[in-house]
Amino acid sequence: MVNTMKSNVNKTIIEELNTSHSLPREKWHTLLSSFTEEDRIYAASLARRVADEIYGNDVYIRGIVEFSNTCNRNCYYCGLRAGNTKLERYRLSPDDIYSCCEDGYRYGFRTFVLQSGEDPYYTTEMICDLVRRLKKGYPECAVTLSIGEKSFEDYAAFKEAGADRYLLRHETANEAHYGKLHPENMSWKNRMRCLDDLKSLGYQTGCGVMIGSPEQTIDCLVDDMLYMQDFKPEMIGLGPFLPHSDTPFRDKPKGSYEMTLFLISLCRLMLPHVLLPATTALGTIRPNGREQGILAGANVIMPNLSPVRVRDKYMLYDNKICTGDTSSECRGCLERRMEAIGYKIVIARGDYNG
Ligand code: 5AD
Ligand code: SF4
Ligand code: FES
Repeated sequence: MVNTMKSNVNKTIIEELNTSHSLPREKWHTLLSSFTEEDRIYAASLARRVADEIYGNDVYIRGIVEFSNTCNRNCYYCGLRAGNTKLERYRLSPDDIYSCCEDGYRYGFRTFVLQSGEDPYYTTEMICDLVRRLKKGYPECAVTLSIGEKSFEDYAAFKEAGADRYLLRHETANEAHYGKLHPENMSWKNRMRCLDDLKSLGYQTGCGVMIGSPEQTIDCLVDDMLYMQDFKPEMIGLGPFLPHSDTPFRDKPKGSYEMTLFLISLCRLMLPHVLLPATTALGTIRPNGREQGILAGANVIMPNLSPVRVRDKYMLYDNKICTGDTSSECRGCLERRMEAIGYKIVIARGDYNG
């Protein structure tokens, strides 16, 4: 009885989000602290309807080249942190990176995502040269960068060179919580400054959160939803926190699979046009996690284009999927997985269309 009443309240809140695309703090709090399995399924059905209206049964693919696992930061959650001395580090040359994208183009990728740790070896000029070369070789493709916190001038230079999009998860919109996930030399205010700069420079900008990171509370997630409601990112990356055995968070519990799916649905209802990937972390926590992500309202999949020889070295968390598979194997695998749930991978840049 009590549960049914709660569910009716939550159902009404989900419907309000679907029509007004925003909620006040108290309603976010109610929804995130008391949702039931029934609420989650209801939100997924509305979210999928919204995604179907805007994107049909198309799923966009982005090829990620994880070009360096070297990082001078020390985020407590991440396997690439500088303090992890067990990890063998690698750097791909610009020619190697370009050749991964050439393969990707042949497999039907029209967005290349260049991602790395924060690695000062790659200068602004090197990144700009690579972006220019890719945009010249593949003028119909989008280039996305995901290389961390930089200055306004650097972001402007990458944009000028032709970069279209930038991914920088905010990790948490709660400053005190940010301080529990990162060492003192990292600042939440600078992260927010970066996101504002990216947006003001005209990038399609992606932020995002790990669900269930250590010490994350419902209030933190409420702060995340309110932040995104206001910032209106073009892209949102959501995945469960997964521990990595060579980090300070090795013994912390995983994030919740159900909470991740629920938040994916709520993001779709809040920002109907948002580009929302079913992430690798979601596919790692459950064998069919990415399919369930699509069915909860996601519309993007981001497989790896990195050479197999380096794949198992880009280990953000334990047991990451696809580390033994080639780009072509992942491409075929995803085609089948999407078809099995009634969706299809399209050969397109897949820009934000809001
Ligand atoms: N579990 C889940 N996601 C992680 N990331 C880093 N480490 C982990 C982990 N242990 C995510 C962060 C980062 C992105 C590249 O990967 O959100 O921004
Ligand atoms: Fe480096 Fe990014 Fe990992 Fe932090 S999350 S340690 S910045 S690769
Ligand atoms: Fe990589 Fe299935 S997507 S093997």
